[in-house]
Amino acid sequence: MSDKPKLRIGLIGTGFMGKAHVFGFAAAPKVFDLPYDIELHTVADVTEQAAQAAARAMGFAHATTDWRRLIDDPAIDVIDITAPNALHKDMALAAIAAGKHVYCEKPLAPWPRTRAKWPTPPRRRGSGRRSGSTICATRCCGWPAT
Ligand SMILES: NC(=O)c1ccc[n+]([C@@H]2O[C@H](COP(=O)([O-])OP(=O)(O)OC[C@H]3O[C@@H](n4cnc5c(N)ncnc54)[C@H](O)[C@@H]3O)[C@@H](O)[C@H]2O)c1
Repeated sequence: MSDKPKLRIGLIGTGFMGKAHVFGFAAAPKVFDLPYDIELHTVADVTEQAAQAAARAMGFAHATTDWRRLIDDPAIDVIDITAPNALHKDMALAAIAAGKHVYCEKPLAPWPRTRAKWPTPPRRRGSGRRSGSTICATRCCGWPAT
């Protein structure tokens, strides 16, 4: 049992990229000397069956059909968004507003023209705003990785 602090993940979307991200969470501690222990806390998908099946298969402790529960849960540190494109922006902004770290699949918004509607994310001490996106998508959405 490690004495490192835990980094608790809330995953939204359990499709192809959700599985790929969980693959990464499992591999990262074996490859890098992380300052945290990663804990797969809660997974969300649209049906109870999908959410529960993903929780069992991927090792999440909890499952839900309501992604907002992840954002409202103070135990969760990172909101990992692998839902379809059209949902990224609302999910990411809600998570940022709640002070969560956000790990969002590309694109951050469906089309470059939505750029103007992206507010500047609030700067919070210790709140991660890096994007796992490509440089092109990041620039299109006006949310530079820091
Ligand atoms: N597939 C790739 O190679 C790839 C590569 C890079 C980025 N992406 C991006 O990753 C995202 C996901 O792609 P994918 O291939 O995993 O798609 P997918 O269709 O396999 O998975 C999407 C998942 O999100 C779930 N979902 C839909 N609405 C939801 C909601 N309201 N709440 C919770 N879960 C919801 C779906 O049920 C599904 O399980 C997309 O934005 C895509 O552009 C995909």
